[in-house]
Amino acid sequence: MTQTFTVLGIESSCDDTAAAVVEWSAQRADILSSIVKGQNDLHSEFGGVVPEIAARAHVEKIDHCVLEAMFAADLRLSDIDLVAVTAGPGLIGGVLSGVMCAKGIAATTGKPLIGVNHLAGHALTPRLTDGISFPYLMLLVSGGHCQLLFVSGPTSFTRLGGTIDDAPGEAFDKSARILGLSQPGGPSIEKEAAAGDPRKFSFPRPLLDRPGCDMSFSGLKTAIIRARDRIIDAQGGIPKEARSDLCASFQAAVADVLTEKTRRALASTMKDLGENPVLSVAGGVASNASIRAKLELMCEEMEVKFVAPPLALCTDNAAMIAYAGAEQYHAGIRSDMSLAARPRWPLDTKSETLIGGGKKGAKA
Ligand code: KG4
Ligand code: ZN
Repeated sequence: MTQTFTVLGIESSCDDTAAAVVEWSAQRADILSSIVKGQNDLHSEFGGVVPEIAARAHVEKIDHCVLEAMFAADLRLSDIDLVAVTAGPGLIGGVLSGVMCAKGIAATTGKPLIGVNHLAGHALTPRLTDGISFPYLMLLVSGGHCQLLFVSGPTSFTRLGGTIDDAPGEAFDKSARILGLSQPGGPSIEKEAAAGDPRKFSFPRPLLDRPGCDMSFSGLKTAIIRARDRIIDAQGGIPKEARSDLCASFQAAVADVLTEKTRRALASTMKDLGENPVLSVAGGVASNASIRAKLELMCEEMEVKFVAPPLALCTDNAAMIAYAGAEQYHAGIRSDMSLAARPRWPLDTKSETLIGGGKKGAKA
C-alpha cells in the first residue's frame, strides 16, 4: 500500500448529500474538495426530515456531488485509491443510495471500497482538522446524535454517556416548532435568544441530579410547552420579548446539561488516564456560540485543550467519511461488494444500547 493515498468519500445518511476528496498520509491529510448539497428547502414545510423525500433527493444529487468533487479536486476516478462511503447509521433509503453509488464506482474502477460508520466520521474529524493524537474525548451533538465518546484509535470508541431520549438538536428543532420559529430550530432559537434573558424561566436541567454522563432533553420540550401556554393564557399570545426569554432560557438549560455531563466525562477520563485529554466537539449543535463558550470556559478551568473543528466540518460532510475511511483502511479494515446499508450501527458495541436516540430512531 502506498503511504499517501487519495480517497473519495460519499455521505448520504440524513438530509445532506455529500462527496469529497481527501489526500491522506500517516502524517497529514488535505481536503482537496468537499461538496455538500443540503435539503432544508425540501423538508422545511413538514417540520422535520421526511425519509422518502430525503432518499429521492439523494438519488438525484449523488452523482452530481461526486462529479463536482472530482472536478473541484482536478482528478479523475482513476486517480482515486479508495472509495469510502457512509454505510450507516442513518435513514436507510439515503444510506442505500450512497452505498450503491460507491459500489458502482468501486466495481467500474476496480478500486477498494470501505464502509464507514457515520459517527466514526464525526468522531475522527479533529484528527483531520487539527491533527490531534489519540486518545481524546469527543462530544457529538447533532439532530440525531448525542454521545460522549472516548476515542482511542480509528476503530476504538468507548461511549461514556449519551441521551436516553431526544438528541439536543432535536430538542432545539421541536422547541422552535412549539414557539412558531422556522426550521432548523437551532439557528432560529440561537438568533432569538440573543435578545433574551436566560434566567427568566427556570427550565429543568434533566439528570444533573443523578451520577454519570447520560442526558435527557425531552422534558425540556414539555417545559417549553407549559411556559408558552401560560404566557398565551395570560397575554393572549406570545410577545416577542417573552419568546426571546423562552429561547434564551431553553438554550441555557441545554448548555448547562451538556457542559456538566462533559465535565464529568473529562474528570473520569483524567482519573483513568492520569493526564488531561483534549476535548473536541462535532455536530450541528456544537456550532451554537453560547454552548461553545460554556464548554470552552469549563475546559479552561479544567486546563483541558478545546478543539472545535470549523462549522462546515462539524455538520454532515463527506470529507470526514473519506478521512475516517483512510484511517480505518490503513488500520486493516476492508469491505467488499457484500457491504450492506445499516439503519443502526452502534459505534461502541460493548456499552449497553441507550433507550432513545434522536429523530431518526435509536441510531446508536
Ligand atoms: O450535524 P447536523 O448538521 O445534522 C445531523 O443532525 O446529523 O445537525 C443538525 C442539527 C439540527 O437539529 C439543528 O437544529 C442543530 O443541529 N443546530 C443547532 C445550531 N445549528 C444547527 N443547534 C443549536 N444551535 C445552533 N446554532
Ligand atoms: Zn451527523
